[in-house]
Amino acid sequence: MRDAKRVAVLISGRGSNMRALVEQAIGYEVVLVASNKPFAPGLEWARARGIPTWTWDSKGVAKEAFDRMISAALDDHLVGTIALAGFMRVLSPWFISEWQGRVLNIHPSLLPKYRGLDTHQRALDAGDQIHGCSVHLVTEELDAGEVLGSREVPIVARDDAAALEKRVLEAEHALYPKILSEFVTR
Ligand code: GRF
Repeated sequence: MRDAKRVAVLISGRGSNMRALVEQAIGYEVVLVASNKPFAPGLEWARARGIPTWTWDSKGVAKEAFDRMISAALDDHLVGTIALAGFMRVLSPWFISEWQGRVLNIHPSLLPKYRGLDTHQRALDAGDQIHGCSVHLVTEELDAGEVLGSREVPIVARDDAAALEKRVLEAEHALYPKILSEFVTR
């Protein structure tokens, strides 16, 4: 039986948001860290903590076939909520429908502004004074699902994309665990 409080975090890389979700878990438990990149640095961190991991190189695997493999792993661990955290792969319509309303993502912009990539540079180029991050439900349309919460980060005069990314990332680490806690208990 899928249990909303049993969370899987899906990563493709360093996994700093995954670490924040583990370290600040209130009301939920991260029971699985899964990755489509076998050498994602975040996997090592999870293993060292004794958190179960699942990984399979997605290169060359058909999208839905891969998603069915991940889905089976999630069910093996009785997962009920999925937190995408730097998972650099668009999920198939089959997966979205199978896990409808149960998949969250963190995005480095104040949605609905700047869906997709290069959000920090785009905010700077637009001359924005306020930037930030959002947690949203995942739907078939990229970065377009219901926004569950967001956090603002002021842009300052000396900012470049790297400096801004660093501050937004800190905001992400505070926002994501909070929204996930609220989500699993709502
Ligand atoms: C974060 O900027 C997040 O907003 C985006 O991907 C990045 C993941 O970073 N979706 P990390 O792997 O959590 O450190």
